[in-house]
Amino acid sequence: MALAIAFLFFSILISTTTTYGLDSCTSSDLSIVHIYGKCSPFTSPKRESWVDTVIDMAKKDPLRVTYLSMLIGEKTSVPIASGQQVLNIGNYVIRAKFGTPGQLVYMVMDTSNDAAWIPCSGCSGCSPTMFSPNVSTTYGFMDCKMPQCTLVRGLSCPDSGPSPCLFNQSYGGDSSFSAILSQDSLRLGLDIVPDYVFGCLSSVSGGNIPPQGLLGLGRGSMSLLSQSGALYSGVFSYCLPSFKSYYFSGSLKLGPTGQPKTIKTTPLLRNPHRPSLYYVNLTGISVGKVLVPVAPELLAFDPSTGAGTIIDSGTVITRFVAPVYIAMRDEFRKHISGTISSLGAFDTCFTSSNEALTPLITFHFDGMDLKLPMENTLIHSSAGSLACLAMAAAPSNVNSVLNVIANLQQQNLRILFDLTNSKLGIGRELCN
Ligand SMILES: *[C@@H]1O[C@H](CO)[C@@H](O)[C@H](O)[C@H]1NC(C)=O
Ligand SMILES: *[C@@H]1O[C@H](CO)[C@@H](O)[C@H](O)[C@H]1NC(C)=O
Ligand SMILES: *[C@@H]1O[C@H](CO)[C@@H](O)[C@H](O)[C@H]1NC(C)=O
Repeated sequence: MALAIAFLFFSILISTTTTYGLDSCTSSDLSIVHIYGKCSPFTSPKRESWVDTVIDMAKKDPLRVTYLSMLIGEKTSVPIASGQQVLNIGNYVIRAKFGTPGQLVYMVMDTSNDAAWIPCSGCSGCSPTMFSPNVSTTYGFMDCKMPQCTLVRGLSCPDSGPSPCLFNQSYGGDSSFSAILSQDSLRLGLDIVPDYVFGCLSSVSGGNIPPQGLLGLGRGSMSLLSQSGALYSGVFSYCLPSFKSYYFSGSLKLGPTGQPKTIKTTPLLRNPHRPSLYYVNLTGISVGKVLVPVAPELLAFDPSTGAGTIIDSGTVITRFVAPVYIAMRDEFRKHISGTISSLGAFDTCFTSSNEALTPLITFHFDGMDLKLPMENTLIHSSAGSLACLAMAAAPSNVNSVLNVIANLQQQNLRILFDLTNSKLGIGRELCN
């Protein structure tokens, strides 16, 4: 009954999307919008159906998962993303304000990154630019002598004398950017984080640099949570809007106030080699009532190799290492009758008239089970005739076994990160 009411409510919202969508776009709260959604200034490169957009975006996942799987970055807690770190972020944006008076900036939320950067005025190759340091009374660049500057790779500082902390980074053969390590007030909703350290982009070249600002919500020393100290007490949560309803927005809640009082939790695990990442202890997967048989070492957390499972806001569809994915998929297929076909990254599609047979998928974490809602399990073709299991195998060419719980499986759930108590909470919430 509750579900039916929720669905009805949802349908009403859908049918009034135009006005609701516009109103919600102008709100000043910490809403999270899909990057190609109605309220985002960034438009999809091609006008295409939503499922095709998801399929296109999911094509970038293997590169991101490969990056996330790499064991030792030379320096992992840099405030500015390294070449590989800038690749393939980015599905959800939030509005923030930088400087005094505050200037509106759109930033991609990235929970696996500590970096912050924004395209600054005068930046060549940035489109759009978002922030004019010269009109902010609180802006300052950081000098080469400052300790944060030594964390930045690609640095070129003179041997003596004062100099702004400038740096260049290149990647992928054809793309690069340069930036000035800077400090200014960051406004998130009603909060102000003074002297927030970020990279002010001054030039980008090549086709691979995403145009948005980046807000690193990782665990490392330069992330928002570390830089904001007591303001947020190491606690934040988000609820990602549904992929199907891109007129709507989810929300980011920073700090302990307003977080769910009762929520199921599992311990967060810390990997000193990858301090930005949120590792969790995934102990098994069930399909229907069947606990999928997988070798424990394919799920086990191993800080020395980087193996284990992370929860990530920048990967589109959940990726399990191939043997785990195949075992889960094969069990899933046993429940579905008719021909199995594939669509983009999805290898288990079937006629949607058979959807009632879809088994419930449960992720078992240490101390917490997550029963995936059906919209977080299946994705539909644009014509609606096919339903596909919305997960895939991780790329096999990486040097550690990393499983990534991704966006599509997180929609309409509140995901709570409590770094003080080292816990991750997950609860149902209609967050659109
Ligand atoms: C700030 O810099 C931008 C771009 O460099 C320039 O167009 C603008 O006129 C400057 N504004 C002020 C107040 O100096
Ligand atoms: C960054 O690259 C530009 C163009 O290649 C160059 O002019 C500039 O000196 C470089 N800056 C640093 C800090 O290396
Ligand atoms: C993961 O959870 C299992 C089951 O509760 C437990 O035996 C194991 O020690 C946990 N692993 C870590 C790294 O905490």
